[in-house]
Amino acid sequence: MPQIFVKMKEVRILDKSFKEMISEEQIETRILELAEQMNTEFAGREILFMGILNGAFLFAASLFRKINLQARISFVKLASYEGTSSSGTIKELIGWNDDLKGKTVVVIEDIVDTGNTVERIVGELEIRKAGEIRIASLLFKPNAYKKNHPIDYVGFEIPNDFVVGYGLDYNGYGRNLPAIYTLIK
Ligand code: IMP
Ligand code: MG
Repeated sequence: MPQIFVKMKEVRILDKSFKEMISEEQIETRILELAEQMNTEFAGREILFMGILNGAFLFAASLFRKINLQARISFVKLASYEGTSSSGTIKELIGWNDDLKGKTVVVIEDIVDTGNTVERIVGELEIRKAGEIRIASLLFKPNAYKKNHPIDYVGFEIPNDFVVGYGLDYNGYGRNLPAIYTLIK
């Protein structure tokens, strides 16, 4: 049966159950609002969107096709590998193929939690001498955020609970859910 998840209010992924928190309709309506805001604010300017894989691919696709500016899109990925340092896992950002010098970059994230990822990406953009840097995130956990960089475009502020769907995963699963689901504790 196709679209098995559509309209399901509760889903089971591996050993956990989740319930719908933000519907597909709410998500698409909100993304359109964010796109319209960007279309107005960046009118007449060229934008480079920078999606962060894997989680942001659905948000990026939905947002990007609602943008009517002269725009390009590119993706980078935080790759984990076993490091030799005591900290264990090292995360390296891969896929920077663009010349970012002086460019206006809108980073597209699925979720901003502690802000470690955003801080890391902003740092890399600054090293590459990007011009204006803006952050767009479908979800934002304000009570978990520990950094200072503003999250310029937020789809939805959510509590510090674990969520899946619309690109976000639990151990790799759940990304294909068309709505956002929160863990049932
Ligand atoms: P950060 O703590 O802001 O660096 O967020 C790091 C990453 O953790 C995000 O990009 C997501 O991939 C993941 N993450 C944070 N919160 C959740 C969640 O509730 N569900 C699924 N992934 C999450
Ligand atoms: Mg992510």
